[in-house]
Amino acid sequence: MVRLSIPGVDDLPGQAPAVHEPCPAPISSMPPPAAWRRGSPGVSVLGDLLGIEWPVIQAPMAGVQGSALALAVSNAGGLGSLPCAMLTPEALLKELLALRNGTERPYNVNFFCHRMPPPDAAREAAWRALLSPHLAAYGIDAAAIASGPGRMPFDDTLADVLEAFKPPVVSFHFGLPEPALLARVKGWGAKVLSSATSVDEGLWLQAHGADAVIAQGLEAGGHRGHFLSGDLEVGTHSGLFALLPQMVQALRVPVIAAGGVTDARAAAAARALGAAGVQAGTAYLLCPEATTSAVHRAALQSGAAVSTALTNVFTGRPARSIVNTAMRELGPMNPQAPAFPGATAAMAPLRAAAEALGRSDWSPLWAGQNASGCRAVPAAQITRDIAAAWRPQGIPR
Ligand SMILES: Cc1cc2nc3c(=O)[nH]c(=O)nc-3n(C[C@H](O)[C@H](O)[C@H](O)COP(=O)(O)O)c2cc1C
Repeated sequence: MVRLSIPGVDDLPGQAPAVHEPCPAPISSMPPPAAWRRGSPGVSVLGDLLGIEWPVIQAPMAGVQGSALALAVSNAGGLGSLPCAMLTPEALLKELLALRNGTERPYNVNFFCHRMPPPDAAREAAWRALLSPHLAAYGIDAAAIASGPGRMPFDDTLADVLEAFKPPVVSFHFGLPEPALLARVKGWGAKVLSSATSVDEGLWLQAHGADAVIAQGLEAGGHRGHFLSGDLEVGTHSGLFALLPQMVQALRVPVIAAGGVTDARAAAAARALGAAGVQAGTAYLLCPEATTSAVHRAALQSGAAVSTALTNVFTGRPARSIVNTAMRELGPMNPQAPAFPGATAAMAPLRAAAEALGRSDWSPLWAGQNASGCRAVPAAQITRDIAAAWRPQGIPR
């Protein structure tokens, strides 16, 4: 188990001293978690539930953002999100400190809750064999590539780090963690969100403790959040405007619309179909506060961005990406790809080598079907623009 210094907790009298990294933030500068500055009560049900001004959630996007984007959105009155699936406990601690020092407003931390697959040497070897001509073209020795986990599910070690900060909102992708772990999160008063790709998944999440459910339409960028159906059934998933009204009708908890929402008109349409709020990801990818790579930014601004597809070749699970060489050569769906997140390791050096040459051929270019609303403007502006769907004076023309 990783032992970390949790400022304000490990320093309490009576706690055993621990060997830690130096803490960059003075404890006295940290507001107590109970002191969240609340939003504007009455503007929206979701705003009241989460304590935010506008019911606009910046989608957590692992690999393309950290606390800077989340802070910009939370400070603009939306709900900024920190994606944690690719963070070590040490990196998570650093990001939580940045959030705590950067805002008094609520923010969301997001985790995956998949089960790690058992090692499968034969499948891994077959995958490397399939990649070997491409690896060889970049001078990479397939046998020398270390296998790595890629993305880790939420667990007690991460919950230990989180608990000291008591983040007000915690969201999950791929279902919910096991009951005892979820009880820990709910025990400090966090509101819990998770993505559903079908009405059945929405009902399951509601029955198992979600305070609000994110309806993830088929348009959405990044990984599909399904957890009751298999990867081969992604073809049966619905677009947002078919899924949303059915979910609103079936659920009692607020439903948040995700997939293709980049401006106030789309948010207003989702609102008209019963959405309590929206979660937008792709819209923020070009913001200066995002860490989106240069090749990813270039692809988003090119004609290629109109062509996206679901692919499992980057991680082992279906996710929506702008179509590139990797997807054309290997997939977009390939039954030989190791189970999530196992496909990541062998692709990583290929991606790095290509990106070093300024090429996006082997990079996951996660994006939703509507990249037209991507703008290289501060995240606060994107947030305010989408939030206009909830302004009493209506959407500016
Ligand atoms: C680059 C990228 C990375 C993503 N990573 C995550 C993630 O780490 N966790 C998560 O819950 N959802 C993730 N998603 C999915 C979003 O939660 C959301 O469903 C999606 O962004 C909504 O569709 P849109 O991109 O069209 O706005 C990601 C989406 C994108 C575009």
